Amino acid sequence: MPTAHRTPTIGVTRRTPFDTETDLVVGVLFEDDDPSSLRALHEATGGEVERAWRRGEFTGKLFDVFVTLLAAGQTRAVLIGAGQRRDLTTDRIRRMAIVGALAARGRRVTRVTFGGWDRLAEAIPVSTSSGPSEKAQAVAQACAEGVTLANFEGGAYKTDNSLRPLLESVELCPFDESAALNAAIQRGQVLGEASNIARELANEPGNTLTPRVFAERARAIAEQAGVGVTVLDEDGIAELKMGLLLGVARGSQEPPRLVVLHHDPPPASKDVVLGFVGKGITFDTGGISIKPAENMDKMKDDMSGGAAVIAAMAAIARLGVPLRCVGVVPMTENMPGGRAVKPGDVLASAEGKTVEIINTDAEGRLILGDGLWYARQLGVTHLIDVATLTGACVVALGKTTSGLFGAPDRWVEEVRQASERAGDRAWPLPTFDDYKDQLKSEIADFTNTGGRAAGATTAALFLKEFTGTLPWVHMDIAGTAWAEEPKPYQPKGPTGVAVRTLVQVALAADSWGKLDLKR
Ligand code: BES
Ligand code: MN
Ligand code: ZN
Repeated sequence: MPTAHRTPTIGVTRRTPFDTETDLVVGVLFEDDDPSSLRALHEATGGEVERAWRRGEFTGKLFDVFVTLLAAGQTRAVLIGAGQRRDLTTDRIRRMAIVGALAARGRRVTRVTFGGWDRLAEAIPVSTSSGPSEKAQAVAQACAEGVTLANFEGGAYKTDNSLRPLLESVELCPFDESAALNAAIQRGQVLGEASNIARELANEPGNTLTPRVFAERARAIAEQAGVGVTVLDEDGIAELKMGLLLGVARGSQEPPRLVVLHHDPPPASKDVVLGFVGKGITFDTGGISIKPAENMDKMKDDMSGGAAVIAAMAAIARLGVPLRCVGVVPMTENMPGGRAVKPGDVLASAEGKTVEIINTDAEGRLILGDGLWYARQLGVTHLIDVATLTGACVVALGKTTSGLFGAPDRWVEEVRQASERAGDRAWPLPTFDDYKDQLKSEIADFTNTGGRAAGATTAALFLKEFTGTLPWVHMDIAGTAWAEEPKPYQPKGPTGVAVRTLVQVALAADSWGKLDLKR
């Protein structure tokens, strides 16, 4: 498989950007900056930025890109618009770094210097981080994350060389080197790389990423990061009596897999075990309730939740997060084969609850039901599942915001705040019991669909049946896992959504681990 991403080496220096060995200098300017007051920039560009500013060609508007030559000769400079100083957030810095690094790749250079980004530190809102060195760390981490995220290439199977080269090295300057600053950069690299691992998996076609291949890729990723991994095959799954997972898998020639990941740092308390469950449908045809042909190709990304769980576990291990974490990823295709589950069929879950299948296209909740139950068997104390679960969630929240569901509200709020820190936008939707009537079945405990009304909520209520009394959050990423419209900071394609949210939840365990989250 061709290379799809690379984490560039990232270093810091005290020198000014204009005397480092580099192919390109990437700078940044606020709308309320005055370019003539930035002496080094003024001199290096021979006043070109002010002239562009005066004629209105470049005015620092957010994500605008201005390319110019440096007076000295060959080296070029790219300036990224930072918008209004008062609107700056670390999320914006990460996105601007992506824009800068993508611009560099577009100019086909591989060694870049980010110059003057230290100026952003003083403009970060006080709530985000406190002292000047923490602010510098936040900027450096966001830059490291951004340049790593920009170093992803979706056209992995193109055989011509039309692809933009990946960056090799990035220098941030001027920054004071310190152990804390280096740790911040490394954090940014690990988070960016984990997102790219999830994006690479989601980008992989259904024919190259079958459940068996997905499980082997998960094993390799886990082993490299020092995460414990077990892969169950169809016999192992049958022994656990996972009738919902096996029911979905029946329609396919490809056997299902169940991947279980363990992060068990020795000093961690045994009282808190964070459990992640991710939807791993490697291709969703809809099954016998088959989907229309239009856009069906997009359903290769129906394992994005599972990929997020695998990548997040790897990042958690790499960062040495002192918290026990478990990942469970049920993997199968949803195909309309001759032995496929049919509408009206009844399946028994591993937990024992029975489900009347109304629509075979509501398969994600089935495999997650068995997955959530299994995570509970493994002793987790807090649950989060991630899934490209419903078109209804896309209708409700669009393509930029994931849906959050769960109980108790306080746990949902913890995950929401983590998503905010991660730069993954997410927002709560209700799980009131009133909606449960929509899942009533005449023949079994409940149905697998609840009709068109509140489709994202009834899907969540189905999952809730398998969460016992644990604090649980369901994150519906159907709208956010794949970017259909390119943005300056997000090319068309897989986004890696939820990876950084899960890591942020794990990193914050000190605060939520003590809360009373009974439901
Ligand atoms: N994987 C789809 C959800 C989806 C839809 C993801 C659009 C991304 C974009 C899921 O398995 C599905 O088919 N859900 C059905 C449920 C329905 C049959 C109750 C849906 O949303 O239409
Ligand atoms: Mn489906
Ligand atoms: Zn699906």
